[in-house]
Amino acid sequence: MRAIVISAPGGPEVLVPCTMPVPVPGHGQIVIRVAWAGVNRPDALQRAGAYAPPPGASPLPGLECAGHVAEVGPGVTRWAIGDAVCALLPGGGYAEYVATNAAHALPVPEGMSLREAACLPETCFTVWSNMVLRGGLGAGERFLVHGGSSGIGTTAIQIAKALGARVFTTAGSDEKCLACLALGAERAINYRTEDFVDVLRAEGGAQLILDMVGGSYLPRNVRALADDGRLVQIAFLTGPKVELNFAEVMMRRLTITGSTLRPQSDLAKARYAAELETHVWPMIARGALRPVMDSEFPLEDAAGAHTRMESSGHIGKIVLKVE
Ligand SMILES: NC(=O)c1ccc[n+]([C@@H]2O[C@H](COP(=O)([O-])OP(=O)(O)OC[C@H]3O[C@@H](n4cnc5c(N)ncnc54)[C@H](OP(=O)(O)O)[C@@H]3O)[C@@H](O)[C@H]2O)c1
Repeated sequence: MRAIVISAPGGPEVLVPCTMPVPVPGHGQIVIRVAWAGVNRPDALQRAGAYAPPPGASPLPGLECAGHVAEVGPGVTRWAIGDAVCALLPGGGYAEYVATNAAHALPVPEGMSLREAACLPETCFTVWSNMVLRGGLGAGERFLVHGGSSGIGTTAIQIAKALGARVFTTAGSDEKCLACLALGAERAINYRTEDFVDVLRAEGGAQLILDMVGGSYLPRNVRALADDGRLVQIAFLTGPKVELNFAEVMMRRLTITGSTLRPQSDLAKARYAAELETHVWPMIARGALRPVMDSEFPLEDAAGAHTRMESSGHIGKIVLKVE
């Protein structure tokens, strides 16, 4: 099969086309013939040598895809050859075929293209598990998500809105802010010209913040939280180390937590998949959630896709056309 390997840690140019054997499904796995593969920021971190695949995972990049079931492993009852699925992957999505746990696949939503469906798993699993299961977002709460125009951000805005939250977000340009407002954010803050702390404090503080920026945002997030507020950290784009006065955490009963998806157990991911099918797939069916598509690249030009992502010019998701 055609695939993309990381030839050495480095820039986008280390993503090199190659051919390799088609994977064989293990117990409880399916092999998917990939039509489209989603591109995510963690792929760029892996390419740069800063995010190693967990033990046993494919060393190829690619955390999500959509396509058709090509082979079914022993013990799999839900899927049959030919079924259209989108799936969370332990790696290996930048290829014509990929093996994954059968319980991490979901049906392609009715009326949705494979191109769009390929963009659902990584962001939906991450947003639901962190914003709802870990962060406990409730209807009517003031919710701040940083990086509102990112793949994660565009998904978080729509799901939070569908849950009845009041959505605040940050982005790096007025154009990106407009895109966030169109998705349902009540207020989009251009962080280059406005201070999100001031905006949120004027509203009484955020009850929940979902942050991928870290660094100097950590103490500022603490200031932007309402009493009893929660901060969920899903990345540290500007670094994980910072000086913080924890007395405020204690005095205002704040919660700081976070998680990464990839190293979690197969069982945990299967539970998230079941949650998504129950709660998020109906949002898609009623038109409350749709992936925001930025651009597409052929599989062979995965390097171009990474260059686009790292330029930060994108709004929403970047996909690789594999079939
Ligand atoms: N924990 C997990 O399991 C998990 C899973 C998936 C992704 N992630 C993380 O989630 C983040 C988003 O992933 P993605 O795939 O959606 O990538 P992406 O589309 O490239 O998003 C990165 C975003 O960060 C924004 N940003 C950078 N500096 C910022 C700042 N100072 N203030 C506000 N926003 C800022 C960028 O917007 P501007 O260019 O406008 O600044 C961009 O929209 C990444 O850091 C990724 O590693 C975590």
